[in-house]
Amino acid sequence: MQFYKFIPHGDERGQLVAIEALKDIPFEVKRVYYIYDTKEGVRRGFHAHKNLEQILVCVHGSCKIHLDNGTQTEEVFLNKPDEGLYITSDTWREMYDFSPDAVLLVLASEHYNESDYIRNYDEFLKYVGESKNG
Ligand code: TYD
Repeated sequence: MQFYKFIPHGDERGQLVAIEALKDIPFEVKRVYYIYDTKEGVRRGFHAHKNLEQILVCVHGSCKIHLDNGTQTEEVFLNKPDEGLYITSDTWREMYDFSPDAVLLVLASEHYNESDYIRNYDEFLKYVGESKNG
């Protein structure tokens, strides 16, 4: 887990943030998606990836991210449009506590590919366990 701070090009008109692939973030962006209008009490995600890097930016409102690398867990609060949370592939993630106005923007290093998902937690633990043991 790592934060990337983006430069807000602010002036009297307001703010503008630009994110350039391989300059402001460590990968080429192949896909962008965003989550919004999330209903109260919803928790989503519940998966890891075999080969996917992502940057999460809560461009409006706030939400929390639960991260788990199989050994340690972390809870991250996102509420800044100029801050990106970098998540590597073999990290179990859950998103929760979305404010009603939250817009969570995700920049992803690969196209959508269901076979890249690990959606079973026990399978995830096995996967990271095997990765660590070579
Ligand atoms: P889902 O995997 O349930 O989202 P989350 O990780 O937030 O729980 O995705 C919801 C739906 O959107 C599901 O039908 C798959 C589809 N989807 C795409 O078509 N492309 C994408 O890039 C993503 C992330 C999801």
